Amino acid sequence: MKRIGIYPGSFDPITNGHLDILLRASKLFDEIIVLIAFNKDKLGNYRFNIDERINMVKEATKDYLNIKVDSTSGLTINYAKSHNAIALIRGIRVVSDFEYEWQLAAANEYIDSDIEMVFLMSHKETTFISSSSIDEMYRCGVDISPLVPDVVLKAYKDKIK
Ligand code: COA
Repeated sequence: MKRIGIYPGSFDPITNGHLDILLRASKLFDEIIVLIAFNKDKLGNYRFNIDERINMVKEATKDYLNIKVDSTSGLTINYAKSHNAIALIRGIRVVSDFEYEWQLAAANEYIDSDIEMVFLMSHKETTFISSSSIDEMYRCGVDISPLVPDVVLKAYKDKIK
Protein backbone atom coordinates (compact mmCIF):
# COMPACT_ATOMS: atom_id res chain seq x y z
CA MET A 1 0.00 0.00 0.00
CA LYS A 2 1.22 3.50 -0.87
CA ARG A 3 2.25 5.55 2.15
CA ILE A 4 0.56 8.91 1.56
CA GLY A 5 1.29 12.00 3.66
CA ILE A 6 -0.66 15.26 3.59
CA TYR A 7 1.17 18.58 4.00
CA PRO A 8 -1.60 21.11 4.74
CA GLY A 9 -1.38 24.88 5.01
CA SER A 10 -2.45 28.21 3.61
CA PHE A 11 0.68 28.64 1.45
CA ASP A 12 -0.05 32.33 1.01
CA PRO A 13 2.47 32.21 -0.61
CA ILE A 14 4.63 29.08 -0.47
CA THR A 15 8.17 29.89 0.72
CA ASN A 16 11.52 28.10 0.78
CA GLY A 17 10.70 27.32 4.42
CA HIS A 18 7.68 25.30 3.33
CA LEU A 19 9.73 23.70 0.54
CA ASP A 20 12.41 22.63 3.02
CA ILE A 21 9.80 20.71 5.04
CA LEU A 22 8.06 19.37 1.95
CA LEU A 23 11.15 18.00 0.20
CA ARG A 24 12.40 16.34 3.36
CA ALA A 25 8.95 14.81 3.96
CA SER A 26 8.84 13.58 0.37
CA LYS A 27 11.72 11.22 1.21
CA LEU A 28 9.73 9.68 4.05
CA PHE A 29 6.52 8.94 2.14
CA ASP A 30 5.68 7.36 -1.22
CA GLU A 31 3.47 10.33 -2.05
CA ILE A 32 2.84 13.73 -0.51
CA ILE A 33 -0.25 15.79 -1.23
CA VAL A 34 0.25 19.47 -0.55
CA LEU A 35 -3.20 20.47 0.61
CA ILE A 36 -4.24 24.09 0.41
CA ALA A 37 -6.79 24.33 3.19
CA PHE A 38 -8.64 27.21 4.81
CA ASN A 39 -7.41 28.68 8.05
CA LYS A 40 -10.54 30.10 9.70
CA ASP A 41 -8.50 32.98 11.17
CA LYS A 42 -7.32 34.09 7.73
CA LEU A 43 -10.58 33.88 5.78
CA GLY A 44 -11.07 36.91 3.59
CA ASN A 45 -7.49 38.04 4.21
CA TYR A 46 -5.56 35.90 1.78
CA ARG A 47 -2.97 37.73 -0.30
CA PHE A 48 -3.26 35.32 -3.23
CA ASN A 49 -6.48 33.62 -4.31
CA ILE A 50 -6.82 29.86 -4.21
CA ASP A 51 -5.96 29.33 -7.89
CA GLU A 52 -2.86 31.50 -7.60
CA ARG A 53 -1.71 29.57 -4.52
CA ILE A 54 -2.33 26.19 -6.17
CA ASN A 55 -0.45 27.23 -9.30
CA MET A 56 2.51 28.56 -7.32
CA VAL A 57 2.83 25.30 -5.36
CA LYS A 58 2.45 23.24 -8.55
CA GLU A 59 5.15 25.21 -10.34
CA ALA A 60 7.51 25.12 -7.34
CA THR A 61 7.20 21.32 -7.05
CA LYS A 62 6.91 20.34 -10.70
CA ASP A 63 10.21 18.40 -10.69
CA TYR A 64 9.10 16.08 -7.89
CA LEU A 65 7.01 13.19 -9.16
CA ASN A 66 5.74 12.07 -5.75
CA ILE A 67 4.38 15.52 -4.80
CA LYS A 68 0.80 16.37 -5.77
CA VAL A 69 -1.23 19.50 -5.05
CA ASP A 70 -4.88 19.80 -4.10
CA SER A 71 -7.23 22.01 -2.07
CA THR A 72 -10.16 21.53 0.26
CA SER A 73 -12.75 23.73 1.88
CA GLY A 74 -13.43 21.08 4.52
CA LEU A 75 -11.51 19.59 7.40
CA THR A 76 -7.96 18.54 6.64
CA ILE A 77 -8.31 15.33 8.61
CA ASN A 78 -11.40 14.31 6.61
CA TYR A 79 -9.52 14.93 3.38
CA ALA A 80 -6.65 12.79 4.68
CA LYS A 81 -8.98 9.94 5.56
CA SER A 82 -10.79 10.02 2.22
CA HIS A 83 -7.46 9.93 0.38
CA ASN A 84 -6.10 7.00 2.44
CA ALA A 85 -3.32 9.12 3.92
CA ILE A 86 -1.50 7.83 6.97
CA ALA A 87 -0.21 11.13 8.35
CA LEU A 88 -0.43 14.91 8.35
CA ILE A 89 2.93 16.67 8.14
CA ARG A 90 3.67 20.04 9.73
CA GLY A 91 6.86 22.01 10.21
CA ILE A 92 7.97 23.57 13.47
CA ARG A 93 10.24 26.61 13.41
CA VAL A 94 10.18 28.02 16.91
CA VAL A 95 8.59 27.27 20.29
CA SER A 96 5.52 29.39 19.52
CA ASP A 97 4.75 27.13 16.53
CA PHE A 98 4.67 24.20 18.94
CA GLU A 99 1.79 25.64 20.98
CA TYR A 100 -0.28 26.23 17.85
CA GLU A 101 0.55 22.79 16.46
CA TRP A 102 -0.25 21.14 19.77
CA GLN A 103 -3.80 22.51 19.67
CA LEU A 104 -4.30 21.70 16.00
CA ALA A 105 -3.00 18.15 16.55
CA ALA A 106 -5.28 17.65 19.56
CA ALA A 107 -8.33 18.79 17.55
CA ASN A 108 -7.38 16.50 14.69
CA GLU A 109 -6.84 13.59 17.06
CA TYR A 110 -10.27 14.19 18.59
CA ILE A 111 -11.87 14.04 15.14
CA ASP A 112 -9.93 11.00 13.93
CA SER A 113 -7.13 9.36 15.89
CA ASP A 114 -6.17 6.97 13.06
CA ILE A 115 -4.16 9.60 11.19
CA GLU A 116 -0.73 10.30 12.67
CA MET A 117 0.87 13.74 12.94
CA VAL A 118 4.48 14.01 11.74
CA PHE A 119 6.45 17.12 12.74
CA LEU A 120 9.70 18.12 11.10
CA MET A 121 11.96 20.78 12.57
CA SER A 122 12.80 23.58 10.14
CA HIS A 123 16.42 24.03 9.14
CA LYS A 124 17.90 26.91 11.09
CA GLU A 125 18.34 29.00 7.92
CA THR A 126 14.56 29.06 7.39
CA THR A 127 13.26 29.58 10.93
CA PHE A 128 12.65 33.30 10.39
CA ILE A 129 10.67 32.86 7.18
CA SER A 130 6.88 33.19 7.15
CA SER A 131 4.48 34.12 4.39
CA SER A 132 3.67 37.42 6.07
CA SER A 133 7.34 38.33 6.62
CA ILE A 134 7.98 37.63 2.93
CA ASP A 135 5.07 39.89 2.00
CA GLU A 136 6.25 42.71 4.24
CA MET A 137 9.85 42.46 3.06
CA TYR A 138 8.86 42.53 -0.61
CA ARG A 139 6.62 45.56 -0.10
CA CYS A 140 9.51 47.34 1.66
CA GLY A 141 11.97 46.67 -1.15
CA VAL A 142 13.97 43.85 0.46
CA ASP A 143 15.38 41.19 -1.88
CA ILE A 144 13.27 38.07 -1.19
CA SER A 145 14.71 36.00 -4.04
CA PRO A 146 16.76 33.67 -1.75
CA LEU A 147 13.66 33.01 0.39
CA VAL A 148 10.99 32.01 -2.13
CA PRO A 149 10.68 29.86 -5.27
CA ASP A 150 11.08 31.83 -8.54
CA VAL A 151 7.37 31.52 -9.30
CA VAL A 152 6.50 33.44 -6.11
CA LEU A 153 8.93 36.23 -6.89
CA LYS A 154 7.39 36.51 -10.34
CA ALA A 155 3.88 36.55 -8.88
CA TYR A 156 4.86 39.44 -6.60
CA LYS A 157 6.44 41.34 -9.46
CA ASP A 158 3.26 40.89 -11.54
CA LYS A 159 0.96 41.81 -8.65
CA ILE A 160 2.81 44.78 -7.18
CA LYS A 161 4.38 46.87 -9.91
N1 COA B 1 8.55 27.72 6.78
C1 COA B 1 8.08 28.94 6.55
N2 COA B 1 6.91 29.41 7.04
C2 COA B 1 6.21 28.56 7.77
C3 COA B 1 6.63 27.26 8.05
C4 COA B 1 7.87 26.84 7.52
N3 COA B 1 8.36 25.64 7.75
N4 COA B 1 5.72 26.68 8.82
C5 COA B 1 4.75 27.56 9.02
N5 COA B 1 5.05 28.70 8.38
C6 COA B 1 4.29 29.94 8.43
C7 COA B 1 3.45 30.22 7.24
O1 COA B 1 4.18 30.95 6.29
C8 COA B 1 2.35 31.03 7.83
O2 COA B 1 2.78 32.35 7.98
P1 COA B 1 1.78 33.59 8.04
O3 COA B 1 0.80 33.31 9.14
O4 COA B 1 2.69 34.71 8.28
O5 COA B 1 1.07 33.69 6.71
C9 COA B 1 2.17 30.40 9.20
O6 COA B 1 3.40 29.83 9.51
C10 COA B 1 1.17 29.29 9.27
O7 COA B 1 0.74 28.97 8.00
P2 COA B 1 0.60 27.56 7.34
O8 COA B 1 1.61 26.60 7.80
O9 COA B 1 0.47 27.78 5.87
O10 COA B 1 -0.67 27.02 7.91
P3 COA B 1 -1.90 27.73 8.50
O11 COA B 1 -1.66 27.78 9.95
O12 COA B 1 -2.30 28.97 7.83
O13 COA B 1 -2.92 26.62 8.07
C11 COA B 1 -4.37 24.81 8.27
C12 COA B 1 -3.52 25.80 8.98
C13 COA B 1 -4.90 25.34 6.95
C14 COA B 1 -3.55 23.57 7.99
C15 COA B 1 -5.49 24.51 9.24
O14 COA B 1 -6.14 25.72 9.56
C16 COA B 1 -6.49 23.54 8.65
O15 COA B 1 -6.22 22.36 8.59
N6 COA B 1 -7.65 24.08 8.21
C17 COA B 1 -8.74 23.31 7.61
C18 COA B 1 -9.87 23.12 8.65
C19 COA B 1 -9.38 22.19 9.71
O16 COA B 1 -9.15 21.02 9.47
N7 COA B 1 -9.19 22.73 10.92
C20 COA B 1 -8.58 22.00 12.02
C21 COA B 1 -9.54 21.21 12.86
S1 COA B 1 -10.75 22.17 13.68
